[in-house]
Amino acid sequence: MTTWKKILILLTMGAAVSAFAVDTATTWTEVCAKCHGADGKGKTPAGKKLKLKDYTSAEIQAAMDDEKMTHEIADGITEGGKEKMKPYKDVLTPEEIKDLVAHIRKFKA
Ligand code: HEC
Repeated sequence: MTTWKKILILLTMGAAVSAFAVDTATTWTEVCAKCHGADGKGKTPAGKKLKLKDYTSAEIQAAMDDEKMTHEIADGITEGGKEKMKPYKDVLTPEEIKDLVAHIRKFKA
């Protein structure tokens, strides 16, 4: 095989892989933002009802723990036997969950 052919195949493979990897910001706006808000403030109608935390607050960010967040995104949050946030471990990979935690950290003003 000629070198240019090899390069062409590698380029095509790279494009296919990146087309499949859903980017974290998209996951946030498509899945999480209806409650937490695109800006992370939780000021959506659903977010207000659920009394969501404002992730742009430095104080709230300081009180949050990466490991706890990872666990809560994976396993969901229940309070008094009622599901407040559903578990996402069946729809998101551990890598995607880790990226979402980092994404939430970036909301800090
Ligand atoms: C149905 C509404 C809803 C959706 C959709 C939702 N959440 Fe939540 N989330 C909640 C509620 C309710 C809480 C608990 C109250 C709080 O911490 O503000 C919460 C809490 C959290 C926490 C815990 C923060 C802490 O204090 O430790 C994280 C992290 C989180 N959500 C991330 C996500 C991510 C990432 C997504 C998208 C994959 C998502 N949420 C989608 C409602 C939702």
